[in-house]
Amino acid sequence: MSPHTGTDTRRSCVRPPHFDILWLPRAAMRSVEGDPSDCVLVVGVSRPKMAATILVIMLLSLFLTFHILYDSALNSLQAASNDRPRPPTLLFSKQFYPSATRRLPQAIIIGVRKCGTRALLEMLSLHPAIQKAAGEVHFFDRDENYYRGLDWYRMKMPHSYPEQITIEKSPSYFVTPEVPERIRAMNSSIKLLLIVREPVTRAISDYTQLRSHAATAPSFTFGTSSPQRSFQQLALHSNGSINEAYRPLAISVYHNYIHRWLETFPREQILIVNGDLLIEDPLSQIQRIEDFLGLESKISTHNFYFNETKGFFCLRNETSDRCLRETKGRKHPRVDPLVISKLRRYFAEHNQKFYELVGEDMGWPEE
Ligand SMILES: *[C@@H]1O[C@H](CO)[C@@H](O)[C@H](O)[C@H]1NC(C)=O
Ligand SMILES: *[C@@H]1O[C@H](CO)[C@@H](O)[C@H](O)[C@H]1NC(C)=O
Ligand SMILES: *[C@@H]1O[C@H](CO)[C@@H](O)[C@H](O)[C@H]1NC(C)=O
Ligand SMILES: *[C@@H]1O[C@H](CO)[C@@H](O)[C@H](O)[C@H]1NC(C)=O
Repeated sequence: MSPHTGTDTRRSCVRPPHFDILWLPRAAMRSVEGDPSDCVLVVGVSRPKMAATILVIMLLSLFLTFHILYDSALNSLQAASNDRPRPPTLLFSKQFYPSATRRLPQAIIIGVRKCGTRALLEMLSLHPAIQKAAGEVHFFDRDENYYRGLDWYRMKMPHSYPEQITIEKSPSYFVTPEVPERIRAMNSSIKLLLIVREPVTRAISDYTQLRSHAATAPSFTFGTSSPQRSFQQLALHSNGSINEAYRPLAISVYHNYIHRWLETFPREQILIVNGDLLIEDPLSQIQRIEDFLGLESKISTHNFYFNETKGFFCLRNETSDRCLRETKGRKHPRVDPLVISKLRRYFAEHNQKFYELVGEDMGWPEE
């Protein structure tokens, strides 16, 4: 028997098809003569069965890791737009739960601006069955949005579950002539919420906001009127009569706008919310709204508190705690009480017309 060289023994070994470079005779390692049929797997593992098992386990755990990562990413993505906890996702269990999708609103807060539409929306969203759209969508009042179609509108809505109500608010809907008909074309049985405040208070609040916006805007857009004019200068003509064309006053003449809504929708589909009461006694108003929307009463005194330190009204539920500032931090200017009385007398007759149209007396002061 001639002494074997490494290459000789390698050639005599049986090669499994896929690991051909891995198989060496034991003799090759010892570099002495050995039994050429005595072959071992050198690289990595010496037992193919164990190798296969380890490979399977590795692949399985890799798959599971990615599945869990994918699910948690999906969960946190949804949580960003939808605070309701999802049912836990187990392997392939998604198909057993109806998933959250974007739906057209079943209720809209149509206005009026500066009457607490934001506060109302925030309060309602404490309810687990309500999903609110972020920001003001301005779909029905702006042609450039309206002509993008309902699918564009739907994509602006939050994710919701079938038993939930989607709600959005855009205060300029109330005063834009085309809006009632456009909303009816989308859903003739939709529920509408209109929040109103005492008209003179609303007008002053409107003036305050416009003035604060004007102060931060480039001056040339305001032309010669740049020195800031007081509420009184804008609301009254120099001869003392009321400037009915002044926009903050015009918007407070609610009956001029509500009549169009009442011609388009049955009265039962519109709920009038008293914005002054909403701040003084939120629960009374919220319970009416839950009832109107056909929801179980879930919001309670526990959800509202007044923070004495901050001086703000605050809202909380299991998952969130936030405080509202009625005027978003802007202080109302002092307006001469005589001017306020004058304006209230002017509004008295308009308010009566509004009460008659909606069939509710809001009890606003007449001077
Ligand atoms: C709590 O309130 C927040 C914000 O208003 C809302 O998004 C969330 O869905 C509410 N959570 C529950 C459990 O109702
Ligand atoms: C229309 O609005 C009503 C009232 O909220 C709602 O029940 C209904 O599902 C809505 N219809 C469509 C098609 O969204
Ligand atoms: C007061 O002035 C306004 C505009 O300057 C005018 O339209 C109005 O008729 C005047 N009213 C009276 C009572 O003179
Ligand atoms: C009220 O607000 C203050 C200041 O932000 C805060 O420290 C305090 O905890 C709040 N009180 C309550 C009852 O939430």
